[in-house]
Amino acid sequence: MTHADTAADRDRDPELVIQTVNLSKQFPNVIANDRISFGVKKGEIHCLLGENGAGKSTLAECLYGAYQADSGEIFFKGQQVKLTSPDDAIKLGIGMVHQHFVLVRPFTVIENIVLVSQSHGVLSDLSSAEVKLKSLCDDYGVDLDLHAEIWQLSVGEQQWVEILKAIYSGVDLLILDEPTAVLTPQEIERFFGILEKMRAAGLSIILITHKLNEVMQISDRVTILRKGKVVSTVVTSQETKESLANMMVGRDVVLNIDKKELPVGEPILEISNLSALNDREQTALKDLTLKLHKNEILGIAGVAGNGQRELFEVLIGVRKAESGQVLFENEDITNRSPRLIKRRGIAQVPDDRINEGLIMEFSVSENLILGQQRQAHYRQGPFLDQGRIKSAAGRMISLFGIATPSLNHKTKFLSGGNLQKVILARELEQDPKCLLANQPTRGLDIGVIEYVQQQLLEKRNDGLGILLISEDLDEIFTLSNRIAVMFKGQIMDVINTSDANLEQVGLLMAGVKDH
Ligand SMILES: Nc1ncnc2c1ncn2[C@@H]1O[C@H](COP(=O)(O)OP(=O)(O)OP(=O)(O)O)[C@@H](O)[C@H]1O
Ligand SMILES: [Mg+2]
Repeated sequence: MTHADTAADRDRDPELVIQTVNLSKQFPNVIANDRISFGVKKGEIHCLLGENGAGKSTLAECLYGAYQADSGEIFFKGQQVKLTSPDDAIKLGIGMVHQHFVLVRPFTVIENIVLVSQSHGVLSDLSSAEVKLKSLCDDYGVDLDLHAEIWQLSVGEQQWVEILKAIYSGVDLLILDEPTAVLTPQEIERFFGILEKMRAAGLSIILITHKLNEVMQISDRVTILRKGKVVSTVVTSQETKESLANMMVGRDVVLNIDKKELPVGEPILEISNLSALNDREQTALKDLTLKLHKNEILGIAGVAGNGQRELFEVLIGVRKAESGQVLFENEDITNRSPRLIKRRGIAQVPDDRINEGLIMEFSVSENLILGQQRQAHYRQGPFLDQGRIKSAAGRMISLFGIATPSLNHKTKFLSGGNLQKVILARELEQDPKCLLANQPTRGLDIGVIEYVQQQLLEKRNDGLGILLISEDLDEIFTLSNRIAVMFKGQIMDVINTSDANLEQVGLLMAGVKDH
């Protein structure tokens, strides 16, 4: 039999930049990719769409050589390739931006970019790298301080570093795994402008995103995955958001949620004249005053970087308030320990789930009861009551549809969206009085968002006060009773959602107050 007779060769399409034929990848107890055949054309933006845990990141990592498929073939520009490491992929001209940042925090932007390319054999000294990077930034209209250290940058800026790192050594195919999850709406528009420039220059792009608006706006074609298998590859212009959602979840999804009108209760969290600094010792919160009530979802709208994160951190006790006061049920909790604040019944969903919400080396069930292991309910004398932990964790896994092969599975092996579900389940299931949530639905698929949003409304109806920080204005409008708009560390205005409109909130977010 000649080589051309193999099944894979018969399926080979020389028009495609990258193509997989029957690619499979199995992890213990999970088939993450099950005979995946798909391909990306030159100069195409191709979206991968699918529920949390569908296998998108795994497929991307196989195409980048970070994972090796168990079976199946990969063709790059018509040639069969074996990618045994990212070095192989980079040499061919395949770049990737991962779902979770892999930057070295105490290093500068340039150092991060050059370090990586040097380890891949692209030698360059820092000053010539700077010239090259500056021109790359100019080409794409990116404004970044190349000498800043990573920890000093906002998450949005860190994402630009990841992108520059991926394209620095020249690529024909760029794989982006949920790159917009950490970008603000304005940054996303700029980012899409850049992707369009890349496409016009003949680059091919694989874009993983859960946001159907983005899929509709930017992609040429979409491949939908469900439970590790390809459902279909479709031409975007022939689809709607609803049809894509249906293929992804396998049922109709309610894209609108009904919110029952309900009078709010007494104040539960009262913030007065709060001031705090950011990591760079600059003013992040300035005399901020805000009141959250029982039976209320108070939405905080704002462009990222206007003090939302610092506000969240002061409230949970991990950042010092310079002045002002936080009262919780009339008790002064200003600058009290995170543990005390938690014990008062304040649940918390941080935006940085990897570093703040979870211990990645722990099992899924350990993370599901994290912070509660000292409670009598989970103890039998000096020991943990494994039976109770098991049954509580099992319940949360089924309620939130957390895709994990077992309770003892290491948390770091969960998909991005399933990590977020672990935090949400833990925080919502411990019967808090108040919930502080920073970007709670980020990275979740639309089926799960529907569930989480309904949960938040139900908890609100039961009496919870919820502070909802979100950059997703649709989410803010859907869930909130009132919307507080934050700008430069201050509250510009607080508006009843029923009286609010997008334009007015957008202007306030930009610091414009009408008279
Ligand atoms: N390194 C690993 N070890 C064990 N299981 C893994 C590993 N990586 C992924 N998995 C499992 O493979 C399946 C697919 O995960 P993957 O990360 O590809 O999903 P995804 O589509 O990217 O989801 P999300 O939208 O949540 O990011 C999941 O069940 C996940 O738990
Ligand atoms: Mg993923």
